[in-house]
Formats: sequence, C-alpha cells, structure tokens
Amino acid sequence: MSDFDVLVIGAGVTGLTTAVRLHEAGRRVLVLEARDRVGGRLWTDTVDGVRLEVGGQWVSPDQTALLGLIDELGLDTYARHRAGDSIYIGRDGVRRTFRGEQFPVPDATAAEMERLTKELDRLAGLMDPLRPWEHPDAERLDRISFAAWLDEQTEDAEARDNIGLYIGPAMLTKPAHAFSALSAVLMAASAGGFSHLVDADFILDRRVAGGLQQVPLRLAEKLPGLVKLGEPVTLIDFSGYDVSVHTERAAYSAPRVVVAVPPTLVNRIRYQPALPPVQTQMRQHQSFGLVMKIQVTYDAPFWRSEGLSGTAFSPYALVHESYDNTNEDLGEARGTLVGFVSDEKADEILGLPADERRARVLASLAGYYGERALEPVAYHESPWAADEWTAGAFGTSFDIGSWVRYGRHLHEDVGPLTFVSSDVAGLGFQHVDGAIRMGDATAARLLGR
Ligand code: FDA
Repeated sequence: MSDFDVLVIGAGVTGLTTAVRLHEAGRRVLVLEARDRVGGRLWTDTVDGVRLEVGGQWVSPDQTALLGLIDELGLDTYARHRAGDSIYIGRDGVRRTFRGEQFPVPDATAAEMERLTKELDRLAGLMDPLRPWEHPDAERLDRISFAAWLDEQTEDAEARDNIGLYIGPAMLTKPAHAFSALSAVLMAASAGGFSHLVDADFILDRRVAGGLQQVPLRLAEKLPGLVKLGEPVTLIDFSGYDVSVHTERAAYSAPRVVVAVPPTLVNRIRYQPALPPVQTQMRQHQSFGLVMKIQVTYDAPFWRSEGLSGTAFSPYALVHESYDNTNEDLGEARGTLVGFVSDEKADEILGLPADERRARVLASLAGYYGERALEPVAYHESPWAADEWTAGAFGTSFDIGSWVRYGRHLHEDVGPLTFVSSDVAGLGFQHVDGAIRMGDATAARLLGR
C-alpha cells in the first residue's frame, strides 16, 4: 500500500488549498516544498523593522474565492489608504493631481481611453477565462501583440500608453509588444472586465491584517506534520503503478501527484518517462514577467498632510505606479510607499550598482511626491527576479500565438500527474484568488466530485 493517496509538490496557495481540501475529505496527503517556508509568492517579512509584503498583498471585491477563504481562516481585512488626490505625470512631463479614475489627460485622449476601455470590456465579456482559445476572435487576437492591436485602434499615443500600462507593466509585467492581444483580453476577463483594472480603488481594495501570507500559513496549520519544508523535488518516476517522488533527502510514493509549481519550474523536475512532447513544448512558451516591487518607508506619511492619497501613475516614469502601503492594521506612525518598476525599465536598472538603482527609484518617487521622497528611513526591493523558486514576478504568461496553439493542453493530466498553479487559472489568473480556485477544483476532481 502507498504511503499517501496524493503527494502535492509546492506549498504555495495552490498546493496548500489542494492538500487541505483532500485532507478534510479524509485523504492521506503530503506536501513537499523546496523552500524553508510556506507561501511561495506570498511572503510577509519584517526587514529593517518594517513589516513588508514582499510578494502579493491586495484583495479585490471580485476575488470571491480569496474573500471566502479569508473568512474561513478567521482573518480580517482593512482598506488601503486612499483619501486625497492622486498624481499623474503625462506625456508632456507635467505632474497633475486628480480624483477618481480618469487620468487628467486632454479631452480627446480621455475619450479615446474611454472608447478603448469599452472595447476591451466587450472583448472580455465574450471570453471564458478558462478557455481563451475559444474566444470568437481568438485566432486574430492571439496573432498580434497588444501594442500592435493598440496601434490599430487609435492614433492617440497617450491613450495607447495608458491603456497599455494597465495590462503590460501593471499586470503581465511584460512590454505590450511581447504578449498577444488575446492575453490582454484574458487579463481583463480574469478580473471581471477591463473597467476593473483601470480602477485602482477596486483592484487594490483591501489588505489582510497581519499580511497576506497569513493565508498559506493558516492553511499549513490545518496540515500538521504533513508539509515538508526544504525538500525540492528533483525526480518524478511515474513508470510504475505508484508514482515515486524523489527529493534530495528521501523518496515518497502515492498513486496521484499534484505538481503545484509555476509552469516555468515544471521542466526543472526530471520525469521518468519523459513528459509528452506537447507538455514540454507548451511550457517553453510560458515565461515569467519581471517587476521590482519597491517599498520605501518614511518617518511619517508626509503626502497625506499635503492632501495626497499616495496613489500615482505615469507610463513615462521609471516607477509607473505607486501607492500608500502603510500597515494600517499596526496603527503605524511611519508611512510606507510601494512602487513598481516593470519589464524593460526593470532591465535598465537591475544591472546598476544598488546605490545607483536606489537613487534612480527615489528620484522617480520625488517626481510624484516632491523632495521629501528622497529621505526615507528604510528602502526595500523585492528579490523575485533572481529567486531560484520563482524567478520573476508577478506570474507567467504565454508568448504571442501560444494560447491558440497550446491552451487546450494546459489543464490536461499526464497519467497520474496534475499540473496546476495560479498561472493557469481562469478567474483570478496570476492572482491568489486563481490559486485557490485551482486548488479547490483540483481537489474536487481528485475526489471525483
Ligand atoms: P507559488 O509560486 O506561490 O507556489 C509554488 C511553490 O512551489 C513555491 O512555494 C515554490 O517554492 C515551490 N516549488 C517550486 N519548485 C519546486 C520543487 N521542485 N519542489 C518543491 N517545491 C517547489 N496576487 C494577488 O492576488 N494580489 C497581489 O497583490 C499580488 N501581488 C504580487 C506581488 C508580487 C511581487 C508577486 C511575486 C506576486 C503577486 N501576486 C499577487 C501573485 C500571487 O502571489 C500568485 O499568483 C500566487 O501566490 C501563486 O500561488 P501558487 O501556489 O500558484 O504559486
């Protein structure tokens, strides 16, 4: 008899949700995790005396699977600070403040942005986010880059740059010429529509008290002794009746295995026999985006006393978006800003010496918030770009043409092996909500429900 009914590889939210649901149904499960902590891309850490969300942190109202799990785990949420004016730096280089969703752009640009938002909402409304390749216009939309699609749609460069910003730097974290228009529509459909992506107060609505890593930490508490840390899986042998899963320390066996790691890491594990060609090929067309999440703490949230919310955007600035990220649940007197440097801008600064990089980022923040932004008490850059067990941020996405070419194979099992993560989710794609949906669905399937 096997040691376990199901082995789960990866103690991110996807793997832990799968394992908890199976355990609750009386199945014998074991989770094998490479790192010495659970949570994967969720990591709440205290650095230089500041509690930071190094990975994911925000929850939006459409993320009902995540909101449900937060409730189930007895966690509380709180609102992101948002009172006051937001800041926008436009194509003319001028800094302007504004309220609401609409950036302070020329009227013609605002009209174009509204038209494009409606068109992307329409296209997203025609998509089942679990099956993007079945979209009525999938063939055409998957063959052209989002940048080329935007070029076709409007001659207004600032409208293109802003619409591109919401999906490119802010979500898929790739340049708009590096992913298809179909991937852009998926990003919108997975969040309930493009209109949600343009509304920061919706998409970045709430945070979890104590940090979002509380979700995987509490899930792991429901699996006492059943999560093995520091055990990277190196080989999966599914040539016999039972699958044997080898780590650097031991081997475990079970009739079913759930590989809950990002698609890019699936092929780092050896398989015996080899995975079918389409599975190996498909994952070579999925790649991580790149974004640096930068958190800068000041002795006070000085922007608030200047009537600013802390929210700032510019497709033309190094830091393309920035928000007040003060830990309201701790009642902190200090203030923290979180800013993001994405794709080609991240390439540009990642090669610089650390002090030069920091100076560039602070100068960009000073462009939004003024000279006081240059004097932080703490400065932190997220480490995901070179992290062995993630190697990018926020998530992975297909290159141009690959949704139509490979999408239908994405949810196929290979014999007793299931491959799953937030990056193959429909609703909640590349988000914690999607990780939970994928974990719940995988467990239900294995339980025959
Ligand atoms: P995840 O990558 O978390 O877990 C996979 C696990 O597998 C890891 O623990 C890894 O160590 C392990 N593993 C890999 N290879 C292994 C091997 N060979 N053997 C054993 N273990 C192995 N989402 C959101 O909802 N709101 C947000 O605000 C954000 N913001 C955000 C910011 C940043 C900086 C990042 C990086 C990500 C986000 N996200 C987010 C995305 C969100 O964090 C992400 O979608 C989910 O946490 C992914 O969960 P998974 O379990 O699918 O993968």
